[in-house]
Amino acid sequence: MVHGAMGERSKYDLVMRLALERGFFMPSSEIYGDAPAGFWDYGPLGVALKNKFIELWRRELVKRDDMLEIDGAQILSKNVFRASGHLESFVDPIAKCGKCKAIYRLDKLIEERTGIHVPERASLEDMRKLVEEHGIRCGRCGGELTDFSHFNMMFRVGVGVAGLDAYLRPETCQSIFIDFLRIYKTMRRKLPFAIAQVGKSFRNEISPRQGLLRMREFYQAEIEVFFNPRKANDFPKADPILDYKLRLQPIGEDSVKDVSCRDALESRLISSKLVAYYLALIQQFYEKAGIPREKIRLRELDEDERAFYAAEAWDLEVETSLGWIELVACNNRGEHDLGGHERLSGQEMTVLDDGERVLPNVFELSMGIDRSLYCILENSIYLVNNRIILKLPPYLAPIQAAVLPLLSKEPFKSEAMRIYRSLKQDFDAVYDASGSIGRRYARYDEIGVPVDITIDHQTLEDRTVTVRFRDSTIQLRVEESDLMNFLRDHVKIR
Ligand code: GLY
Repeated sequence: MVHGAMGERSKYDLVMRLALERGFFMPSSEIYGDAPAGFWDYGPLGVALKNKFIELWRRELVKRDDMLEIDGAQILSKNVFRASGHLESFVDPIAKCGKCKAIYRLDKLIEERTGIHVPERASLEDMRKLVEEHGIRCGRCGGELTDFSHFNMMFRVGVGVAGLDAYLRPETCQSIFIDFLRIYKTMRRKLPFAIAQVGKSFRNEISPRQGLLRMREFYQAEIEVFFNPRKANDFPKADPILDYKLRLQPIGEDSVKDVSCRDALESRLISSKLVAYYLALIQQFYEKAGIPREKIRLRELDEDERAFYAAEAWDLEVETSLGWIELVACNNRGEHDLGGHERLSGQEMTVLDDGERVLPNVFELSMGIDRSLYCILENSIYLVNNRIILKLPPYLAPIQAAVLPLLSKEPFKSEAMRIYRSLKQDFDAVYDASGSIGRRYARYDEIGVPVDITIDHQTLEDRTVTVRFRDSTIQLRVEESDLMNFLRDHVKIR
């Protein structure tokens, strides 16, 4: 979700220009006129950036916290979504124009026309009243709005010849809940522990828009932490982060404040040590991903803004040229999911915790990967002398080094090729001999390559190469024999 006034659009336009011109991402089926909106393809540089981002997530969250990772099916049975509540509650309010039959997402239409924020849980009746009070009519033909109803955003699929009802998952985490018991037993875990998953989710959005920000098919990285609700404060893992400052915007506040986890717990801004610990982990992750901390906030959601399954919710949001964008929903789902699956399937979901039988509660960090990548690109992109420079953290760069012969002739070319071949075994490197050296530097600055390695006259004499840094354009000489160590250090996660 995008919050706040629409700011200057230039950075958004710049990211889209880069994405299309250099093939980071592009609209899916773009050569066909009937291509539905909300579907995007990642090109080679986009895939490489996404993979690096996911690796950072694995390292900074999954491995750091000893989580278990699974990879579940994308099509799940109808009962899964009966139990989860999605069949009944995963809906958006809509209305139809009585004249031209255009369909509108009602809450967004009211917000656009009146500036009034319509809470997620507002009733159809409340929205109908607002439409009447403000005289809202069809934007295309001025017709009267009718047929106020709810639209379920799940994609239904027919499985097999019989066309058995099933659904593309609208969130990856339902696989985590239905697999929970087997994983708990086979991996011999104790509460609290977390299960993580990266994968695609599908939502039949009424008005997909803004590139990677609201898609119908998208990547999530979700973490579900299972815990005994009576022990959410008995959580020593949080001790090392108690002095870490969260960027909090609690309910009722209209600004962000830096509050240490310790103070947030003492003043009861945050409900438990467990929640404070995971909020700290996710904020630290985005700082590592190159988002400046002043552009991050953890905004607590009011009851009427929360998803239907959340008893407590914080959204990690990042400020962009389009306003604040929600990247991670941090939800306390309580026993909603395991309880729901237990009731419908008849499979008991309780586990033993120090002799006590408990139905685990769940705290989740549900991350949108595509929109995270957008925010990272927007935060890294600069226009200098009408040239784009993408200042990605080196460990997120799709390509880590460009190996360039100064002149496109021998022996420069074969020397550069030899160095490229040795580097590409351990690094994401490219070799490029075409165009002037200045042009080539610009080509690689634009896609975020942190260093260029130039093979020049001096290389032929003393086996040193010129290393040029993307951000500072400073150049220095490095012994060819030190190049591997130098690069390894430069692209290390810090
Ligand atoms: N699992 C929470 C969400 O997808 O929003």
